[in-house]
Amino acid sequence: MRTKMFAVVAVGVLTLGAAAGCTDDDGATDSAGGGNTRAGTGGGKVGVILPDTKSSQRWGTDDPKLLKAAFDAADVPVDIQNAQGDKVKFGQIADGMIASGVKVLITVNLDSGTGKTVLNKAKAAGVKTIDYDRLTLNGGADYYVSFDNVAVGKLQGEGLVKCLAAKKAELPLVADLNGSPTDNNASEFKSGYDAVLQEKYDDGSYLKGPDQSVADWDNDEAGTVFKEMWEQTNEQIDGVLAANDGLANAAIEILKKDKRNGDIPVTGQDATVQGLQNILAGDQCMTVYKRIKLEADAAAELAIKLYKGQKPVVEGRGVKDPESGSYVPAKLLPPTAIDKTNVNLVIKDGFAEKKAVCAGRFAALCKENGIK
Ligand code: BGC
Repeated sequence: MRTKMFAVVAVGVLTLGAAAGCTDDDGATDSAGGGNTRAGTGGGKVGVILPDTKSSQRWGTDDPKLLKAAFDAADVPVDIQNAQGDKVKFGQIADGMIASGVKVLITVNLDSGTGKTVLNKAKAAGVKTIDYDRLTLNGGADYYVSFDNVAVGKLQGEGLVKCLAAKKAELPLVADLNGSPTDNNASEFKSGYDAVLQEKYDDGSYLKGPDQSVADWDNDEAGTVFKEMWEQTNEQIDGVLAANDGLANAAIEILKKDKRNGDIPVTGQDATVQGLQNILAGDQCMTVYKRIKLEADAAAELAIKLYKGQKPVVEGRGVKDPESGSYVPAKLLPPTAIDKTNVNLVIKDGFAEKKAVCAGRFAALCKENGIK
C-alpha cells in the first residue's frame, strides 16, 4: 500500500526570463498625446496596465475587451496596455501613462514590490489608483476590485472532493499546483482550497501529496513541476488541485503521456476555452467561472467617477491588506463553479463563444453535453 507524505515543497523562485532588459519601449506609451508633461488639457485618460498574455487567456482577450467596452460606453478615453510579464516594462508603461497625464491608473501587478512603486509614483502625481483583480500588498491603492478569491479556492477544493467521490477514489493522494507565490490571489485561492482539503487529511480520508507553487503562473514551468510530482510519487497522484486552467492543462498534458488523463480529476479556474474543452473531454473536472464583465464594469464605474472628479462610495469596510493592516475600499464579486453539467452557462452568458469551444473535434462533445 501507500506510504505517507511527500515533503516536496520549496517554492521554485525562478525568475523566468524576467527583465528582458531596458528595451526601447516607445510603443508602450503611444496613445496619450505625447510629451512628458501632464496634459493640462483637463482631458487626460484612464490608464490600464494588464500583467501578461500567457498566464491566462483573460489578460490578452477578455479583460481588455470588456474594459474597453465599458469605457467606450461612457465615452471616457482609456489607454489599455499589457506588460507582457516584464516588470521593467510594467514600470515603463506606468511612467509613460503618468507623464502623459492619466487621471486614473488601473493596474494588475506582477508582484507587490514593483506594483507598489507604480502606485507610489501615481499618487505623487495626483493620479487615482485602482488595484484590479490582484491586491498590491502594502500598496495603498485607492480602490480594489476583484472576486472573493478565498471563495474561488473553496469552490476548487469542493469541486475536487466531488470529482474524487465520483471516481470512488479510496484514500486519494492529492497534489497541489498553486499559483504564483508573488500573487496575493494565489495565497487566497490556496487558503480556500486548503481549508476544504485539510478536513479530509485530518479525518484520514485523503493523503496529502506534493504541494508546490508555480512562479509567475508560468504554464511551461507548471508542466515541469507536475512531471516531477508525478515521477516522485511513482505516478500515484489521484487528484490535482490546479489553481487555474493553464496550470491544469499543463498537468493534463503530462497525464496524457501516460494515458491517465480523465482518470485523475484536475481542477482549474477562469473558464478559458481550453479549460472548457478539457472539461467536455473529461480531462478536467471543473473550472471556476469569474464573470469578468462584472469585474471590468465595476472597475470602469469607479474609474469613470474618479475621472470626473467624483468620490465613489463603496459599501462595506473593504479588504484588509495583510501587510499594512489597512483597509482598502473594495468591491468583491462572487465566483461560480463549472463542470460538465453547466458549461452551457458560460456560453449563454456570452463569456465563451460556442464556435470557439465547440470547434473541430469538440463539436460532437458539445452536442453530447447539450451545449447550445
Ligand atoms: C487571477 C486569475 C488568473 C491568474 C493567472 C490571478 O491573479 O485572479 O484569474 O488565472 O492570476 O493570470
